[in-house]
Amino acid sequence: MASISIVFLVLSIAFVCGIAQPKQDSQISPGTLLTYPGSWLSPSKRFAFGFHQQGSGFAVGIWLVGKDNTIIVWTENRDDPPVTSNTTLDFTKDGKLLLRTEQGQKQLIATSATYPVSFAAVLDSGNFALYDKDSKIIWQSFDYPTDTILGGQTLFNGGQLSSSLNKSDHSTGRFHLSMQSDGNLVLYPATSKDDVGDAYWATYNYGLGFNLHLNSTGSLIISNESNLEAVLYPDFNSSSSINLNSNRNTIYRATLDIDGIFRLYSHTYHENGNYSVSRLWSALNSSCEVNGFCGFNSFCTVDNNQAVCHCLPGHDFVNPDPNILGCERNFSEAGCNGGKENAAFYNISTVENMTWGDTPYFDEKMSMEDCSSSCLEDCNCGAALFDHDYNSCQKQNFPLRYVRRDEKKGYTALLKVGLNQKKPQPSVFSKIATVQIVLITSGFTILSCVALATFGRFILKIRVLTYKRLLKNGNLGLPEEVTLRLFTYNELKRATNGFKEELGKGSFGAVYKGGLNKGKKLVAVKRLEKLVEEGEREFRAEMRAIGRTHHRNLVRLLGFCAEGTKRLLVYEFMSNGSLADLLFGAIWRPDWNERLRIALDVARGILYLHEECEAPIIHCDIKPRNILMDDCWNAKISDFGLAKFLMSDQTRTFTGARGTRGYVAPEWHKNIPISVKVDVYSYGIVLLEIVCCRKNIDVNASAAEEIVLSSWVYKCFAARDLYRLVIGEEVDMMSLEKMVKVGLWCIQEEPALRPSMRSVILMLEGKWMPVKRK
Ligand SMILES: *[C@@H]1O[C@H](CO)[C@@H](O)[C@H](O)[C@H]1NC(C)=O
Ligand SMILES: *[C@@H]1O[C@H](CO)[C@@H](O)[C@H](O)[C@H]1NC(C)=O
Ligand SMILES: *[C@@H]1O[C@H](CO)[C@@H](O)[C@H](O)[C@H]1NC(C)=O
Ligand SMILES: *[C@@H]1O[C@H](CO)[C@@H](O)[C@H](O)[C@H]1NC(C)=O
Ligand SMILES: *[C@@H]1O[C@H](CO)[C@@H](O)[C@H](O)[C@H]1NC(C)=O
Ligand SMILES: *[C@@H]1O[C@H](CO)[C@@H](O)[C@H](O)[C@H]1NC(C)=O
Ligand SMILES: *[C@@H]1O[C@H](CO)[C@@H](O)[C@H](O)[C@H]1NC(C)=O
Ligand SMILES: *[C@@H]1O[C@H](CO)[C@@H](O)[C@H](O)[C@H]1NC(C)=O
Ligand SMILES: *[C@@H]1O[C@H](CO)[C@@H](O)[C@H](O)[C@H]1NC(C)=O
Ligand SMILES: *[C@@H]1O[C@H](CO)[C@@H](O)[C@H](O)[C@H]1NC(C)=O
Repeated sequence: MASISIVFLVLSIAFVCGIAQPKQDSQISPGTLLTYPGSWLSPSKRFAFGFHQQGSGFAVGIWLVGKDNTIIVWTENRDDPPVTSNTTLDFTKDGKLLLRTEQGQKQLIATSATYPVSFAAVLDSGNFALYDKDSKIIWQSFDYPTDTILGGQTLFNGGQLSSSLNKSDHSTGRFHLSMQSDGNLVLYPATSKDDVGDAYWATYNYGLGFNLHLNSTGSLIISNESNLEAVLYPDFNSSSSINLNSNRNTIYRATLDIDGIFRLYSHTYHENGNYSVSRLWSALNSSCEVNGFCGFNSFCTVDNNQAVCHCLPGHDFVNPDPNILGCERNFSEAGCNGGKENAAFYNISTVENMTWGDTPYFDEKMSMEDCSSSCLEDCNCGAALFDHDYNSCQKQNFPLRYVRRDEKKGYTALLKVGLNQKKPQPSVFSKIATVQIVLITSGFTILSCVALATFGRFILKIRVLTYKRLLKNGNLGLPEEVTLRLFTYNELKRATNGFKEELGKGSFGAVYKGGLNKGKKLVAVKRLEKLVEEGEREFRAEMRAIGRTHHRNLVRLLGFCAEGTKRLLVYEFMSNGSLADLLFGAIWRPDWNERLRIALDVARGILYLHEECEAPIIHCDIKPRNILMDDCWNAKISDFGLAKFLMSDQTRTFTGARGTRGYVAPEWHKNIPISVKVDVYSYGIVLLEIVCCRKNIDVNASAAEEIVLSSWVYKCFAARDLYRLVIGEEVDMMSLEKMVKVGLWCIQEEPALRPSMRSVILMLEGKWMPVKRK
């Protein structure tokens, strides 16, 4: 395992050292003044340093000479207010660079430089550098890229490019490109938290100390000092993009453009001094693929090669010009009355082939009609996505982010739109009754707001449950009762025929088959043993928390029994056994696509536990035995939320109590806090088992090196021999490599380096595209 674990090194050695000494005659000496429209030119006269247009004024920067000087490649302090044309840049006799504005203010430029500066130079690479008396560079613009890197420039590990606001204003714009410390080069909207759900493009590399480098012949590569990891351009497989004429007349530039797409350009200079531009490579084909290109509640389409934003039904633009700022609801919301009364204020408008970002707060299996009415009656539901493949209903609050058309997924969006009538029509009530209704309604709204403010988003779910209980008789469009049932011990004894048929034994005790409603509804009854002494009230509270989880990849808790010292849990019955039976049973092996689907099912279930529950639930014992298969072979996670009941002294001495040997993360054995990343680790192992259909530890393996699956997989991966893992099977090699990579990423020794479950899902779904390796 040590060979897989990756430790971060601090990058200290500069990537490229080939910065040429400037010639004597191109040196800028102290005692030089620069005023608009003057500039300092590079020896080739292709780059200029000086004042360029910035919004209504000017800023100091570097641009490509020619074509009206519109290609700005760098701007000093880009977010400072623009200066006027009367400002001068003063390279003082004592070797300081000062900006003298009209108000007589002085401002140091290149503040990080150690003064005094002996001379400055604009280099042919487009770099502006300051030198000390030994002609060593003490500051250079290449170390502070804004939205562009030029040939010979590197975006170092941990660094970032930010797009410009618009063509005439080069201050920080709406997107950034991050060369992450985990080795991945990723594009995010600037306003996001750089969460993996915000990412809209990534190279999918992971490893040590990678930098993004554009070399002087136009190759855009990701590498560290010792290793070339990926080549973004040229694509060696495509003859059209082979770029062998390394022309001294060509300048390369990789820019994160205003629309959020990272592109590589070449500028080829002609004899007459002007240049022609070509676009060599682009991370994405269309701005519509950029998260956040269109604002909240709006989506993007391509009309005449132009990305255009549109509002969702029931919404109008916040600002129609530019229309990228998003949309707001064009109706006033009704108070939260709950149930059918709430439904009277709204109608559902459907849009085909839509998806959006963020995980839903509710994800359950039901028909599309039920999904519609469930959303209508739920005042917290702004919209729902209906997934026709799973028949699942995913409810979401407003506002909706990253809405886009997606024909592949075939989801239907159900949007709640207000009917024009804004208040209920109290025809049979007197005026006083009307006033009361209004008061009650607004009271409820205020209460909701207080509740929201106090407890945050999760209180919503609790409230949903409460009013559902109140409206017991109404048809809520939900397939099963939402509330937990409290059973007596005798009821369960009868239901299981005296605990006769044992289905299995887990870390918490034995599980028995049972039947409710005169045996018509099959259930699994778990008799908990070896528990911490837990008060009945605490136990009930805990069960209610578990009972509130609703996800199609979690086994549903139907009820429980807490009598004296007896603790029993009643779950829905899973007719097709566990994932362990499926993977390791010799009868039939699920085919590759089935396995990929199951891997995603499990990942979605864990993500829900980690991110969508009141408090994150760490499962602590993810393994194929705890993953059960329902009638339709959907994978569902069982035994979640129970880890805290295990006796704490067992955890220290006997690792089998929490987690199972082979699946437990290394931090269980160390004295460091446990986080959700322990589940990610166990998931990584399970994923590799799903890939290879064998147990992590198999002492009967044909060769000694194959005994421990994770090491064996790593060996095959490093040797690029992945086919050996799936011999005799028809497997798509791209998706095999993807699954193996994700698995290995999950089982890194250092918890912080493991991905979140959200990243895992995005990668498995292929939204994070792997980059071709050379
Ligand atoms: C620049 O300064 C001159 C005199 O110092 C003044 O007449 C002129 O209006 C100033 N220009 C701007 C754009 O402020
Ligand atoms: C660029 O953005 C600035 C600031 O938002 C705005 O005033 C200006 O009109 C914009 N220019 C263009 C060409 O969109
Ligand atoms: C460079 O990357 C390779 C592959 O990820 C890694 O093995 C190596 O340790 C890295 N070297 C440095 C100096 O970071
Ligand atoms: C640029 O990178 C490519 C690919 O690694 C390489 O073939 C080429 O020689 C490099 N050019 C220079 C000038 O180093
Ligand atoms: C190159 O293209 C061929 C067919 O077009 C394909 O079979 C091969 O896998 C590709 N190689 C790489 C490295 O992508
Ligand atoms: C640039 O040069 C090309 C020919 O090389 C010419 O057609 C074009 O008009 C020139 N453009 C400018 C702005 O001078
Ligand atoms: C962009 O479009 C071209 C041709 O339509 C396609 O070959 C290429 O894969 C697309 N690139 C991306 C990143 O979608
Ligand atoms: C809201 O917008 C929809 C179109 O999306 C329109 O049909 C409806 O009349 C609008 N409602 C109001 C109150 O403006
Ligand atoms: C609600 O929508 C349905 C179909 O989309 C339509 O038939 C019905 O008339 C609408 N109801 C109201 C009150 O607008
Ligand atoms: C949705 O996508 C499917 C599959 O590509 C297509 O057949 C259908 O026409 C699309 N519907 C709409 C309304 O765009």
